[in-house]
Amino acid sequence: MQNGKPIVKDVYWVGVNDRRTALFEGIWPIPLGVSYNSYLIVDEKTVLIDTVKDLSVNGYLNKLKQMLGPDRQIDYLVINHLEPDHSGALPIIKRVFPNIRIVGNRKTAEFLKDLYGVPDIHLVQDGEELRLGRRTLQFFLTPMVHWPETMMTYETTDGILFAGDAFGGFGALEGGIFDDEVDLDYYENEILRYFSNIVGKYSPMVQKAIQKLSDVDVKIVASTHGPIWRTDPGHIIRLYDRWSRHEAEPGVVVVFGSMYGATEKMAEAVERGVADGGVKTIRAHNISTSHVSYVIRDAWRYQGLILGSPTYDTGLFPPMESLLRLLCSKKLSNRSAGVFGSYGWSGGAVKALKQFVEDGKLGLVEPVVEARFAATSEQLERCRALGRAMAERVRRDER
Ligand SMILES: Cc1cc2nc3c(=O)[nH]c(=O)nc-3n(C[C@H](O)[C@H](O)[C@H](O)COP(=O)(O)O)c2cc1C
Ligand SMILES: [Fe+2]
Ligand SMILES: [Fe+2]
Repeated sequence: MQNGKPIVKDVYWVGVNDRRTALFEGIWPIPLGVSYNSYLIVDEKTVLIDTVKDLSVNGYLNKLKQMLGPDRQIDYLVINHLEPDHSGALPIIKRVFPNIRIVGNRKTAEFLKDLYGVPDIHLVQDGEELRLGRRTLQFFLTPMVHWPETMMTYETTDGILFAGDAFGGFGALEGGIFDDEVDLDYYENEILRYFSNIVGKYSPMVQKAIQKLSDVDVKIVASTHGPIWRTDPGHIIRLYDRWSRHEAEPGVVVVFGSMYGATEKMAEAVERGVADGGVKTIRAHNISTSHVSYVIRDAWRYQGLILGSPTYDTGLFPPMESLLRLLCSKKLSNRSAGVFGSYGWSGGAVKALKQFVEDGKLGLVEPVVEARFAATSEQLERCRALGRAMAERVRRDER
């Protein structure tokens, strides 16, 4: 358990790591853990910015007591985001610091009543300020990143943006908490996975938030998850900006489902074709063994997406169906897509894959390959041709 750590004088990180939860939000695997970042500002008034999930409250309270001493109270709790990974400790905080005033916007107030039975809060409007003594906080409403009440809190003296989930990522903080103290390659994979899994659907609102804050002099980005960006805050803002514009890197993701190997064999021919076409960055996923969380991350990163499915009960193989439902709900766009699959009698999988590409307005790369039971050598050759065509498309877009 890490102690509280100063970010700047009198502003402390008091977050906790979660290395116990297997699935974040009950869906997304977090083998590398996650941090719930909470911050304490000590001024004439003391302010807590967000809290933590309800599983680590003892360690969390100890940290606060260590920073505040035995008697000092907390005057305000600013809630940037009410999801329980940040508000779970709220009931206990209210019991330990009975005079604490909760600060939030109109939506926060509405949700707090039903979530925790809290009747009244200190309401703030967009752009409003709260003086703490030497420091001042300013609130920016950034709704739907990724809940309706989400807002960001800007500390004006040191330029700290407490951003809520925006600019956050999976991965517990393993000792280092700042961007200059950690292995960024390690974290960036997990930040993209978090972005694409949790926030990606709300990309237009992320864009709005980035626009809204474009004139604000942000010197430190302090999200609710993952590292604090004090050396290069522009880096994480640029990453979120690029991802929320659906910009892609050159590379091809091949996702297939297969019960007995027929579609897998086609997938391998497709992959070979991509390599023949000169693209080295190929990420292949068997949808039965790769968790959708990782497939969504790779689909968000790379330009080409090739999907293969056997027919099952006249339609898609169920794990593939579940992936496509998620990709559709996340509104992944601006990708080139290819499809292939197999069937035994009625068919149905390839038709459904084509429908997904059409509905998502993705650019279809041909040929579409459909085999009855085992693919013939001609059909496997067409799979290679599909891979080559996708490689060409990706390399053309790169130029
Ligand atoms: C459980 C099961 C259900 C199937 N349902 C259908 C079906 O509804 N329509 C169809 O045309 N083929 C159906 N098939 C046949 C498969 O689509 C076909 O054998 C395909 O080549 C399997 O590819 P795979 O080896 O990659 O799993 C089914 C096969 C299985 C095992
Ligand atoms: Fe959240
Ligand atoms: Fe969160």
